Amino acid sequence: MPTTLEVKTPRLITALPGPKAQQVIAADAKYMSPSLTREYALVAKKGHGAIVEDVDGNSFLDFAAGIAVCSTGHCHPKVVDAIQKQAAELMHISGTDFYHHHMPQLAEKLVATMPGKEAKKVFFGNSGTEAVEGAIKLARYATKRDKLIAFYGCFHGRTLGSLSLTASKNTQRKGFGALLGGVEHIPFPYAYRCPHGHTAETCGTEILELLEQQMFKRLFAPEEIAAIIVEPIQGEGGFIPAPAFFLQELQRICNRQGIMLIVDEVQSGVGRTGKWWAYEHAGIEPDIVCIAKGIASGMPLSAFVAKESVMTWKKGSHGSTYGGNPVCVASAMATLDLIENGYMENARKMGEYIFGRIGDWPKRFKIVGDVRGKGLMIGVEIVRDQKTKEKAADLRDAVISKAFHKGLLTLSSGENSIRMSPPLLIDEEQADFAIRTLEECLRETERTS
Ligand SMILES: Cc1ncc(COP(=O)(O)O)c(C=O)c1O
Repeated sequence: MPTTLEVKTPRLITALPGPKAQQVIAADAKYMSPSLTREYALVAKKGHGAIVEDVDGNSFLDFAAGIAVCSTGHCHPKVVDAIQKQAAELMHISGTDFYHHHMPQLAEKLVATMPGKEAKKVFFGNSGTEAVEGAIKLARYATKRDKLIAFYGCFHGRTLGSLSLTASKNTQRKGFGALLGGVEHIPFPYAYRCPHGHTAETCGTEILELLEQQMFKRLFAPEEIAAIIVEPIQGEGGFIPAPAFFLQELQRICNRQGIMLIVDEVQSGVGRTGKWWAYEHAGIEPDIVCIAKGIASGMPLSAFVAKESVMTWKKGSHGSTYGGNPVCVASAMATLDLIENGYMENARKMGEYIFGRIGDWPKRFKIVGDVRGKGLMIGVEIVRDQKTKEKAADLRDAVISKAFHKGLLTLSSGENSIRMSPPLLIDEEQADFAIRTLEECLRETERTS
């Protein structure tokens, strides 16, 4: 029988969840915080490439990648080797108090991935939310202003500062009381549901008007606004890309008003869209960029990168005990090498291949409203009726659950979309399996809906 290391597509040997998985799920229910959402009963034990094996020996094709984290796949030998070597040499020395050569090395490498005229500086943290918290603080510090603007549907994290920006699902905010003051939200350009009938290229004109003609005049004077924060492709919000012109116009408005443009690349970055950063597709140069997830193949590392003229805060104004941990940085160095030397291009190619095969799903399946995204950030919106566009979360959940029972891991996104965010190393055989499986699931769901 082939081992997890040899298989490229799934193999299920028990009903799901299997007996050992059921034991873990029971223990989890007893001891773990009930706030964790858990999409379905996957109890992972090991992983290799795009394959995850559960505790009962079932293997799955992973098109979720730990929420777009395992960019180089699970346990890539080069990443594992870098981690092991570094763990044997130095596991921790707080980069806030002391130097170690890994931090500037990785910072230099990251900065080199970012086009633009101005030099940049980097701050390392542990998670996406920590990157966003730091970006908020830096924007306020640099501008001496405090107001913040974010978008409906956005997700920037779960700690109180980033949660004040997050406007994805009200369950994420409900019950936690007052959040940061001085935060307002405006609509995100959502071409499939554009109230003005725009296309994916032109959607958002009216939102920019709203920002300049209403928000700036009636709520926040622009000279009080520290930052506008935007995901170039909304992740948790439903894998919705912002049109290039929209990001360019936001940059123009920010530049004119002295507002920091913070681009949150936590989910869309590190090669996933076929370029290092999704904002590059729009040719902009943000003031601050937030990075996490795919940067270190699963080790907890995040960063925010800012223009040198912006990151001028004084000694002691910001720090992090673990940020830039040597083992995480070693993992990131190996990860970025792999992305640069093949996986980013593979993400572009495989994205084109998959979109080429599924772009006509709205014509072939009456419950598919929209297929969208870029590279290996692929969203499929499920509706009850293509004419009314009624959102069908129940049908979406049914498709995801059926896919799991056929050995394919995907995730939900937004109110009624399926997201595919596989490791960047998948090949055509694996893409074909995922497409075939989802097509079966869509067909079965349609039959019973
Ligand atoms: C765009 C974006 N920003 C920030 C975050 C928060 O990251 P973390 O869960 O690592 O705190 C996420 C997490 O999904 C995200 O998708």
